Amino acid sequence: MSTTEDLIGRADLNDLEAILSVSAPDREESIRAVRDNADAIFTWDYEKGARPALNKLYEKAKVSMWNGETDLPWDTVVDQEEVARNNQALAGGFENLDLSHTPFAKWGDKEWTNLGMEFQNWSLSQFMHGEQGALICTAKIVETVPWIDAKYYASTQVMDEARHVEVFARYLDSKLNGHYPLNAHLGLLLEDIIEDSRWDMTYLGMQIMVEGLALAAFGFMHQMTTEPLLKQLLRYVMSDEARHVAFGVLSLQEYYAELTAAELMERQEFAFEAAVRMRDRFMQQEVWERMGLNPRDVLPLLIDNPNRLLFQQMLFTKIVPNCKKLGLLDANDGWLRTRFQELGVIDFEHLTDTSDEYQAFALSDAELKTEVG
Ligand SMILES: [Fe+2]
Ligand SMILES: [Fe+2]
Repeated sequence: MSTTEDLIGRADLNDLEAILSVSAPDREESIRAVRDNADAIFTWDYEKGARPALNKLYEKAKVSMWNGETDLPWDTVVDQEEVARNNQALAGGFENLDLSHTPFAKWGDKEWTNLGMEFQNWSLSQFMHGEQGALICTAKIVETVPWIDAKYYASTQVMDEARHVEVFARYLDSKLNGHYPLNAHLGLLLEDIIEDSRWDMTYLGMQIMVEGLALAAFGFMHQMTTEPLLKQLLRYVMSDEARHVAFGVLSLQEYYAELTAAELMERQEFAFEAAVRMRDRFMQQEVWERMGLNPRDVLPLLIDNPNRLLFQQMLFTKIVPNCKKLGLLDANDGWLRTRFQELGVIDFEHLTDTSDEYQAFALSDAELKTEVG
């Protein structure tokens, strides 16, 4: 059994120096190659519907496609500064804190508004990069999963993810005032998922962990933002994302039921490592640097900030019940349950899992009606 240090390179979850030591390398290159160690699998069993839940999801996906070019109101005028002023809650949750002996003491309205805009640039940039990760991971699932119903479904998700990358990139380019490169913590996680040779690890890393977090984060931003184009964009993306998380839960449920305790342990460790990387990502170290602050001065304020803590925990509302449904919380004497306790997120285990939530998130016929012309 591995220790926390073996898994995430530090014994203390809140070791700030260790968190900051993972930073994005100065990359000038416009592409990055990552070795995929998995075999591509053919199956000769073409029986459609052998896995009814996946078949149902596939049929649902076919009639749920929307068009990022024509279904969103791109002519909406976005005043990013006004959006930032109206959405202070999205800008870090520093309200009600005594900031008098901190780097923020000298800040006025202008700096707080700039921070709000940088948060938006950062968040949407990470969403966009994460969506490309999903595009690549799901293409990998098409190749590696041995079941025909899963290959069929995954192919529809590839199309969904292309659409998501497309709309986030367009929003960043045409409505916001800056981009960020891929966050280093998120990058490590995506590379771990792509390099792994075991087909189910792609699902666990992407559909359960990354997309589970995305669904929660999109939901939060969808609820908070006053900007109508972004609100609708997130609504459409979430209707797909809920299906993707369901795909992960429904596929792994069958597979994990047959794994040994030792095999499950590897999955539990992978889930924990992914959870920590995603939490570290939300320290947003690049934003502090761009605002001219030293992240070493800011991170202690984040770690102790109850508003931030709440936000951070909220990101796990989908992940924890889904891990429970897959048996990952309780296997091996509740190893992952203890880790999630340390992260302060175990209370979410009683929320409903996401195996059929996609039906509630589905777009209506009116929302799906694309104008031809
Ligand atoms: Fe997506
Ligand atoms: Fe997705």
